[in-house]
Amino acid sequence: MPDEPLVLGIETSCDETAVGIVAGHRLLANTIASSADEHARFGGIVPEVASRAHLEAMVPTLQRACKTAGISLPDLDAIAVTAGPGLAGALVVGVSAAKSLGLALGKPVYGVNHLASHVAVDGLSGSPVPEPAAALLVSGGHSSLLAVTDLVDDIVPLGATIDDAAGEAFDKVARLLGLPFPGGPHIDEVAQGGDPSAIDFPRGLTGGRDLQRHRYDFSFSGLKTAVARWVEQCRAEGRQVPVADVAASFQEAVADVLVRKAVMLCSEQGFDHLILGGGVAANSRLRSLAEQKCEGAGVRLRIPAPGLCTDNGAMVAALGSLAVSRGAQPSEDDFPAESSLPVDVALMS
Ligand code: KG4
Ligand code: ZN
Repeated sequence: MPDEPLVLGIETSCDETAVGIVAGHRLLANTIASSADEHARFGGIVPEVASRAHLEAMVPTLQRACKTAGISLPDLDAIAVTAGPGLAGALVVGVSAAKSLGLALGKPVYGVNHLASHVAVDGLSGSPVPEPAAALLVSGGHSSLLAVTDLVDDIVPLGATIDDAAGEAFDKVARLLGLPFPGGPHIDEVAQGGDPSAIDFPRGLTGGRDLQRHRYDFSFSGLKTAVARWVEQCRAEGRQVPVADVAASFQEAVADVLVRKAVMLCSEQGFDHLILGGGVAANSRLRSLAEQKCEGAGVRLRIPAPGLCTDNGAMVAALGSLAVSRGAQPSEDDFPAESSLPVDVALMS
């Protein structure tokens, strides 16, 4: 294998049909076709709609990515694809495409973990992913704190949400404030004009026995309910809901808890580096608070550019490239798509 393997990454775990191409740690293409608009009127992702959209978008997205990167498929050294976790029918489209390409081109195929890919994308920022590091992974379906000793084969989950994921909370609160789906980016925008200290929303699992029992875990469902109650009360009293203040105060509560626990983990477990990843890591307040608190605690913070935090194919290619350069075995020809692939399995055998 060359020093800088040319790797194609395919991502279809949710509503983005995404293809990325990297040469070692260099990003050559990051092409995304989203079916988000088709789901918006349902207020959430409809799996069957997502699968069909992937089928239609796969080949054109692949062609666009190759054109952007200035490569043709036979130039590739390997193909990586999200094998899980995600929507079963959506994953199958990407996995089938990757296997077909691998077979037709005679190239190795690596089935990789979507969550580990969200961390691996940090390696495209100009310097390799620091290992060991703590990672805070916050997306629409997951909120986890991880100890990453080796991104390809030693990831240990130390904490996770016990109910809603952080992104899920953003999406649900956006919905009750009448903002469009997916809600995270809209809350982020509306919150710019609000007061983050206007309403003191609860910080789940941060005190007393809850903190002892769930030191590195998160809970966002109480926060979501608190926001719903506050808004209901406001409406019941005939007052206009101060949307910007609610959004800013909610966002502050989420960012506060995430950063507090991530920095606590670094201090207690001796990690010098913290990597943020996943769609919620695109949040402007989470990014600025993490910068401030990490600096105060002497922890080096790494956050991918916002466009690389949300789902993309470059992150899958980045993990594939790391696997190739470390001499990992490609996945078996018949590896499955696993909708609930655990976070500690970075590569399918
Ligand atoms: O990682 P991702 O693109 O897909 C999953 O793997 O789930 O994350 C999507 C989630 C959604 O819940 C979306 O609302 C949230 O990330 N998100 C944000 C922002 N951008 C995306 N949440 C808060 N602020 C943002 N700027
Ligand atoms: Zn994701």
